[in-house]
Amino acid sequence: MKQGLLFDRDPTFTNRRTKAVTFQGKLNLPIHRWYRLTPSFSPELADDIANHFKLTKDDFVLDPFSGVGTVPLCMKYRGIPACSVEINPYLHFVGTVKTRDYTDLDGIETSFHRFIALYRSELLTVPFEVDPAAYLSQHLDDIPRINYPERWWSQGNLAQLVCLRRTVASFSDRPHIKDLIKMGVLGILIPVSNARHNHVSLTFAKTQLPTVDVAATLERHMLGMLSDLREMSNRGAAAATIYKGNSKELSKVLPKRPKVSVVITSPPYPNRFSYARETRPHLFFFDFIQDATAVGQLETDAIGGTWGRATSVLAKGVSPKNDIVATALNAYLGDIQTNGNLMASYVVKYFNDIYDHAEQIAQVCRKDARLAYVIGNSKFYEQPLPSDEILATIFQHFGFATQRIDRMRKRQSKTGLYEAIVFMHRE
Ligand SMILES: C[S@@+](CC[C@H](N)C(=O)[O-])C[C@H]1O[C@@H](n2cnc3c(N)ncnc32)[C@H](O)[C@@H]1O
Repeated sequence: MKQGLLFDRDPTFTNRRTKAVTFQGKLNLPIHRWYRLTPSFSPELADDIANHFKLTKDDFVLDPFSGVGTVPLCMKYRGIPACSVEINPYLHFVGTVKTRDYTDLDGIETSFHRFIALYRSELLTVPFEVDPAAYLSQHLDDIPRINYPERWWSQGNLAQLVCLRRTVASFSDRPHIKDLIKMGVLGILIPVSNARHNHVSLTFAKTQLPTVDVAATLERHMLGMLSDLREMSNRGAAAATIYKGNSKELSKVLPKRPKVSVVITSPPYPNRFSYARETRPHLFFFDFIQDATAVGQLETDAIGGTWGRATSVLAKGVSPKNDIVATALNAYLGDIQTNGNLMASYVVKYFNDIYDHAEQIAQVCRKDARLAYVIGNSKFYEQPLPSDEILATIFQHFGFATQRIDRMRKRQSKTGLYEAIVFMHRE
């Protein structure tokens, strides 16, 4: 395989600053910043890959792992038709709301003010400062069905959020405006919670956040969204569609035409990060998902899932689905297995899934398709797992030759960890 040297090649995609690659690059960007997904990449990276491929409006770009919709949103602004696929219903919602066309901005502003005024008037009947427990016990059915909600939010804040859920349910407006309001609400769930983004995954702070003015937080956030919409109102000449579905079944999810000319994406890395776990307050708040069983199913269907029920699937043991996967993993699995079958099963399931996904990519892509996969490597018990090379080997089996692999960023937390882009093209 043609292998890029680590950090000393063509400067385009190597030695990149963290902000040029990671979620940090979107924190100041309108609309892109509406939900912080830590393992998402920067719009700058998506744009640089688009420049590298010299995309035109005759291309059709797919991101099979949409996350917060970075790729379709960037392509929309460039006037390149694009679509993406996302398995997590909350993240699917985020991508959908961010990539819609909004023309009636004055109407949206009026609705936002009407909604905030209604919420404030509803809050007058909620004793969230003096006796939130009484209010919560009267509205048990309106408490989000997440496990231990009181761990996430202090009683005073939870009472205000329950009132907010009820206000959203009773507020009538056009569907796209209600979705924007929901997006606004979802955007403040973590700021008014006891959880913090101090690590890749959300963690709980040592002390509870005291009762805050949720209506004021929401108003600030929604006015910020409005100003983002105004700032970007003249941008976006192309349609972007976000499909809800599984990228191991792309041919069922995507329309038959147009065929995909370019894939720009970042699958989950084999690092045991759980997207379902990370988004559980959001998944439950507006019932994107019904119960813990459905979350377990989501995690099992997702690539790289490892939380809850997904672990019991792994505990039964997973074998490579064929010789291609077995051969690709041959050099690495032994050492991981010596230390633990669960981890070995995790790695095998991950690449079995990548195989199924690659097979589907071959079905939905044009004959001259070009692919860019952003992926991080992992270490299991000090055994490095070069996910970029293994992924490239699997894709080769489906006729995608590796053009180059650029290892673009060292990940600071542990030595030997990096992120790479695997560039491939159909032979
Ligand atoms: C690394 S993130 C992508 C982040 C994205 N590049 C962004 O900037 O937001 C991987 C995404 O793949 C999704 N995912 C995992 N398994 C999937 C599957 N089988 N089909 C579709 N999406 C999947 C996860 O829910 C997660 O949102």
